[in-house]
Amino acid sequence: MNKTTRTQIVTTALPYANGAIHLGYILEAIEADIWVNFQKMRGNECYFIAGSDAHGTPIMIQAEKHGLTPEAFIAKIAHEQLADIEQFGIKFDNFYTTHSPENEQLAGDIYHRLQKAGAIIRKTIHQAYDPVKNMFLPDRYVKGTCPRCKSVDQYGDNCEACGATYASSELIDPKSVLSGATPETRATEHLFFDLPQYADKLKQWLSGPHVAKEIQNKMQEWFDVGLQTWDISRDAPYFGFEIPGEKDKYFYVWLDAPIGYMASFKNFCAKKPGLDYDAFWKQDSKTELYHFIGKDIMYFHTLFWPAVLMASQHRLPNQVFVHGFVTVNGEKMSKSRGTFITAKQYLEKLNPEYLRYYFAAKLNGGIEDIDLNFKDFMQRVNSDLIGKIINIAARTASFIGKFFDNQLAAQLTHKELWELFVNKQSEIADYYETRDYARVLREVTALADKANEWIAERKPWQMAKEHGGSEELKEVATLALNLFRILIIYLKPVLPKLALSVEDFLQIAPLQWNDINTPLLAHTVKPFTALMTRIEENQIAEWI
Ligand code: 2FM
Ligand code: ZN
Repeated sequence: MNKTTRTQIVTTALPYANGAIHLGYILEAIEADIWVNFQKMRGNECYFIAGSDAHGTPIMIQAEKHGLTPEAFIAKIAHEQLADIEQFGIKFDNFYTTHSPENEQLAGDIYHRLQKAGAIIRKTIHQAYDPVKNMFLPDRYVKGTCPRCKSVDQYGDNCEACGATYASSELIDPKSVLSGATPETRATEHLFFDLPQYADKLKQWLSGPHVAKEIQNKMQEWFDVGLQTWDISRDAPYFGFEIPGEKDKYFYVWLDAPIGYMASFKNFCAKKPGLDYDAFWKQDSKTELYHFIGKDIMYFHTLFWPAVLMASQHRLPNQVFVHGFVTVNGEKMSKSRGTFITAKQYLEKLNPEYLRYYFAAKLNGGIEDIDLNFKDFMQRVNSDLIGKIINIAARTASFIGKFFDNQLAAQLTHKELWELFVNKQSEIADYYETRDYARVLREVTALADKANEWIAERKPWQMAKEHGGSEELKEVATLALNLFRILIIYLKPVLPKLALSVEDFLQIAPLQWNDINTPLLAHTVKPFTALMTRIEENQIAEWI
């Protein structure tokens, strides 16, 4: 590898192992996968690391409901989740679990480092306790009447009717969601991470190029209010790791979840000789680390996680990339309103590459929500992707088979057009680097328009009709296919499966970014077959 090669770890958030994967996670995984594909095509060393987030009370309760041990439950869910995710063409280098020996060892080690740094504090708190289930109840497991607006059936942390936030002890007539019993308030000692100790360092870190400006502004509000110590322990029964040196105390799921990034990578290193775990995580690491997350878990990734890394003397992320939520036809995904779409439901109806294309067309590196509007979706896939981009090959490739024995011409005529396409490469690469995939697709579509205009002017179908297999026809088709090939290179991070079909049709090795500069000439291709089919209205009827 040459000196300019970069080495990176890229992560998505680790999905909880307690339900079906939905399109919100798929958006994130697609965004990260495009980044990883682009980096790999550029010749960079890039490891795409993820796994299941396997701990916590909800998973423990769900497992019990299914009559399974938590271990069996998380294994089953993770298996199903990964199968769905992979169908979207998302290719992790390692997909592991936070419930692993590596993670237990790393979490314990980091905890000791935090203790040594004087960053662990003990405090007694008062928490709701279910006297029937014999366990402390997270706020979400207590329901009652809102103390402010008197709406019934509200959760123990906030009221969905009036937006009030409160402690579960303030609810009127509170009940345990698990047993229906009236919770008691009991005292318990918890361990806290002293986040305020790291306020100055965090502020400094956040003022650097590690998060987008809009995130920095959001974070400033938190600093203005003042950082709080962070409760990192939970009492038994809990599904997680026991805290070393404590009795019946477990790490809160959010303590070991991001450590799961390290653990998954460690597990990967054990399978990859020559990959040195420490080189990636030590304080002065020369490698790069990028986390893709949704805006709902910003707090964890831009405050807690960097502070834990600082306190335990590890490297920090280069950047935390934050995206918005997925909305469906302009509405929040909601089960009751029928706008909640799981990955599986999508896959039953539609080609996953359509969604990769559509999400890419909307992702621009910002944190606005991404609306999956199915009419717009159908229109963009059918008219832009199939009608413009794929059309370049569809309207020219057949001549190569019909008249020239599948052989491309030996030279390019109209080099200016080819050069125009080639010369877009650094601009498009910059858009990938800034995760402005929407801009990538706009540029590619604009180039496709140029190619189509040129083909329309040259009218190869007329040439074929009038003169059969002329040299001119061969050259027109050859240039068109070379323009198409460049567009496929530009699109390959977004549409890897389409690229694979094109590589097969063109009979070439997997396309790399550098291949842009070398045209494909005097080369035999396969007979052309349709690369992608249009979306029919009945495929999306249930969603419009
Ligand atoms: O919000 C979530 O879905 C969490 N399971 C994400 C964890 S990300 C990382 F910290 F593990
Ligand atoms: Zn209320």
